[in-house]
Amino acid sequence: MARILLGVSGGIAAYKALELVRLATAAGHAVRVIQTPTSRRFVGEASFAALTGAPVLVSEFERDPARGAYPGDPAPAHDPISHLELVANADAFLIAPATANTIAKLVGGFADNLLCSAALAARCPLLLAPAMNDRMYEHPATRANLATLAARGVVMIAPGEGRLASAGEEGVGRLAEPPALLAACEAALADRAAAVRRPPQPDASAERNGAHDTPGRARAASDPLDGTHGTLAGARVLVTAGGTREPIDSVRFVGNSSSGRMGYALAQAAIERGADVTLVSANVALPAPGAAHLREVRTAAELKRACEAEFPACDVLLMAAAVADFTPAAAAAEKLKKADRGSLELVLEPTADVLSGLSAQRHAGQTLVGFAAEHGRDAARTARGKLSAKGLDALVVNDISRSDIGFDSAENEVTILSAHGNGEVAERHVARTTKTEVAEAILDTVEGLRGRG
Ligand code: CTP
Repeated sequence: MARILLGVSGGIAAYKALELVRLATAAGHAVRVIQTPTSRRFVGEASFAALTGAPVLVSEFERDPARGAYPGDPAPAHDPISHLELVANADAFLIAPATANTIAKLVGGFADNLLCSAALAARCPLLLAPAMNDRMYEHPATRANLATLAARGVVMIAPGEGRLASAGEEGVGRLAEPPALLAACEAALADRAAAVRRPPQPDASAERNGAHDTPGRARAASDPLDGTHGTLAGARVLVTAGGTREPIDSVRFVGNSSSGRMGYALAQAAIERGADVTLVSANVALPAPGAAHLREVRTAAELKRACEAEFPACDVLLMAAAVADFTPAAAAAEKLKKADRGSLELVLEPTADVLSGLSAQRHAGQTLVGFAAEHGRDAARTARGKLSAKGLDALVVNDISRSDIGFDSAENEVTILSAHGNGEVAERHVARTTKTEVAEAILDTVEGLRGRG
C-alpha cells in the first residue's frame, strides 16, 4: 500500500482522474487529492472526497481537516502547514490531467496555487500525465516544457492518440487511460523502493562524472534542477524497444515475449540525461516517456523502415528491440479457418538484419549499441563475435536461459561488451538489478565511448 497524492488540473479529462482514484483505492493505496480551482469546473471536490474517503484541498489558505494524514493513518496532534505536510507524507505525486498551463508553471517554478506549491515541495517521485488539445501538445513551447521537466527527473506518462474533446478533432493529447496511470505510479514506487533497498554504487557513477554516488534516476529525483544540463544534453538518441509481430493471418502472428521495459528504461534514462530521444516501439503495453518522439511499429519490416528514416540524424543508437529473424512468407488477409485442415504448415523466410544494415551506413560520430540474447554461461563469449560482425561499439548481453531476468521481467543482469579499437574488447558485468539501473550502466558506457571518439 502506498500514499499517492493526486493533483488534478483544469481539463475535461479530469473525469478520468475519478476512475484512477477508484482503481488506486481498490488496489489498496491511500489517496489524497489536490485540485486546482479551474479543475472544479469539470469535476467537484465531493466526488473525489467520496472516492478517497478524505477531504480534498484546493487552496493554501484552507485548513486540512485530516492534517496531512492519508486514509488509514492517524492524524497528527498538531496542525501542520497543509500543503507541505500532504506532499511530505506522499510516496508518489501524480498530476493527472496536467494541462499545458500547469506544465508551464511547473517549468517556471510558480507557486500560485496549492497544486504547484506542492509540486515544488515534492521530494517523492513526481509523475505528470499531460492532456490537452493536439495543437497545444505539439506546440514547441509545450514540447520544450515537457523535455525540461523530464530532464529534471519528472516521470512523463505520454498522452494517447484518438478523439479529442472538441467535436470532430482527433490527434495526440488524450489523457492516458486510468489503468496505465496507476501502472506508471506503481512502477515509480517500485523503482523508488529498489533504489532505497540498494546500497550506493560508487563505481557506476564515478565512471560517469566522478561526483555522485547514486544512480542517475535517484540523483534526478533528489536534485530536481540537476538534469537540465544533463550529460547527454544535445545528443539525439534513437532507441528501439519491444518485440516485433509477424502476421500469419489477420489476427494471428509470430511474436516473442519482449515487454519493452529495457528499451523504455533506456529512453527515460537518456531523457533524464538531457538527450533528445526518438523511441521506435514495437507492441509495447507500457506508458511511453512523454518527452520521447514515439514511433509505433508492429512488424520487423515496419521497424526497419522507421529506423532507416531516423538513423541518419541520430548520434546514438540503442537497439534493444527483439526483432523477428523470420517472417511468414505469405500472410492470409483474413482469419484462417481450422475446418478442412489436418495441420497448418508455415513457411518462414528470413527478415533483414536491421542493425547490421544500419551499421553498414553509419557515419563518423555515431555510437551503436546492440543487444544479444544468448543461452547459458558462455553467453558473453558467444556474443563477442556479434560485436564485430555487426560493426558495433557495444553489445549488451543477457543470458536468456534464466527466467528471473531479461525477457518480460522487471530486472536484468547483463554483461556490456565495448569495442576499444585494435580488437580490444572491454567487459563489464552488471549484477542483477532493475532495468532502470541497467539502463544507467549502459548509458555510462555510451558516454565513455562518445568521450573517447
Ligand atoms: N536485430 C536486428 N534485426 C534482426 C534481428 C536482430 O536488428 N532481424 C538486432 C537486435 O535488435 C539486437 C541484435 O540484433 O540488438 C542482436 O540480436 P540477436 O537476436 O541476439 O542476434 P541475431 O543476429 O538475430 O543472431 P541469433 O538470433 O542467431 O543469435
